[in-house]
Amino acid sequence: VGTPVRQVAVFGAGYIGLVTGACLAELGHRVVIRDINPDKIELLRSGDVPIYEPGLGDMITRNKERLTFTLDLQETLDGAEIAYVCVDTPPSASGDADLSRLWSVVRSLEGATHLRAVVVKSTVPVGTGARVRSALDAAGLAHVGYAANPEFTAEGRAVNDFLHPDRIVIGSADEATAALIAELHEGVDGPVAVMDVRSAEMVKLASNALLATKISFINEIATLCEKTGADVEEVARAVGLDHRLGPHFLRPGIGWGGSCFPKDSEALRQLASNTGYHLQLLSAVIEVNNLQKRRAIQKLKDELGTLTGMRVALLGLTFKPGTDDMREAPSTVLAARLLAEGAEVSCWDPMARPADTEPWTSTSRYERPEEALEGADAAIVVTEWPQLKEVDWARAAGTMRRPVLFDGRNLLNPAEMRALGFTYMSVGRP
Ligand code: UGA
Repeated sequence: VGTPVRQVAVFGAGYIGLVTGACLAELGHRVVIRDINPDKIELLRSGDVPIYEPGLGDMITRNKERLTFTLDLQETLDGAEIAYVCVDTPPSASGDADLSRLWSVVRSLEGATHLRAVVVKSTVPVGTGARVRSALDAAGLAHVGYAANPEFTAEGRAVNDFLHPDRIVIGSADEATAALIAELHEGVDGPVAVMDVRSAEMVKLASNALLATKISFINEIATLCEKTGADVEEVARAVGLDHRLGPHFLRPGIGWGGSCFPKDSEALRQLASNTGYHLQLLSAVIEVNNLQKRRAIQKLKDELGTLTGMRVALLGLTFKPGTDDMREAPSTVLAARLLAEGAEVSCWDPMARPADTEPWTSTSRYERPEEALEGADAAIVVTEWPQLKEVDWARAAGTMRRPVLFDGRNLLNPAEMRALGFTYMSVGRP
């Protein structure tokens, strides 16, 4: 009540743009979301959501009076006070982020002299904001404010993360713009951290790098637990009780994946090397993550003698449960290695799209985990979907050619699985 309603133009109807646009509409603002993909816009207009994100569809429906989806630039900018740039910034061949989509949005703002602020939410290299600022100045938009406003939402809980964030980071060179963006978030419950643009850009990359570091660290401790007889689950639980360390992102596993950690850690490494500095720690964090998948394959090889001609079941394919996202999923690396070794792959996932597994030749995809396990020489739990806890493992042991199971997510109980006759291996547990 009392907060001014703003007219916001959101560029990009991807994961970040949709969540940002829908949440800003939920806060009471009028939002126009623009994308250049006609199929996407048509889908959104018909009431469908092109990505799977809990709560997002309902939120879009609930706020449909305040939300417009369009291909049209004029319609997007008409009356807009704030332009949010939410396009993707994928890695390019050189390792640097590909900012072509961002630049095409910035160019399209020429003439939008009524704007009060341009805000970049896309993850970008430090220094991008300064370049956008110069481009706006050159385009006659020197009076329009600029802010970096990185996002910290995790897939599967993005709507909740947006409305209840640990912090809202706003980087701007001028107080009025920072205040405008802070005010836009009124109703969001989280502290606002205002800083300069470069620092805000760095917060995003540093946060993801530190989260990835925690995971790689516990994965390395897990390896050492295997060699020394300690139990990494006990270790992580007690380490996490130290409030200075915290319990989060200490779950050992088969390695981190997804659309953010791999891309952002590479981008940060590249950013550093562009300045002539080699990031020692982050390079090791990335290497440990690659090693984690090689170790999984090696464990099966040690157990089976060879992988050639073996049938291996991959259970869970998405980069984490609760999403259909296969980007940089550990399963894609495992499948490629297994196939290269001459193994046959059978797989199961409740949400991965068929198109994602089509390139894996000599791979059979099944509706139920039990079917993928039938006749397999070994299986890997790749993603900790809760459905895998419900599998009748006693029966499955009987239908497998060899009951060899590598639980890459420590989802199952070692004693129980061994009692069922499995040669059961997991990550860092005796
Ligand atoms: C991540 C961050 O958590 C968000 O804060 C950030 O905004 C987002 O990237 C982004 O940059 O957009 P997300 O990629 O959706 O979010 O997924 P996470 O839940 O963080 O998981 C990332 C990967 O780490 C997954 O493969 C997961 O299996 C793995 N992981 C996570 C572990 O192996 N162990 C853990 O303890 C936690």
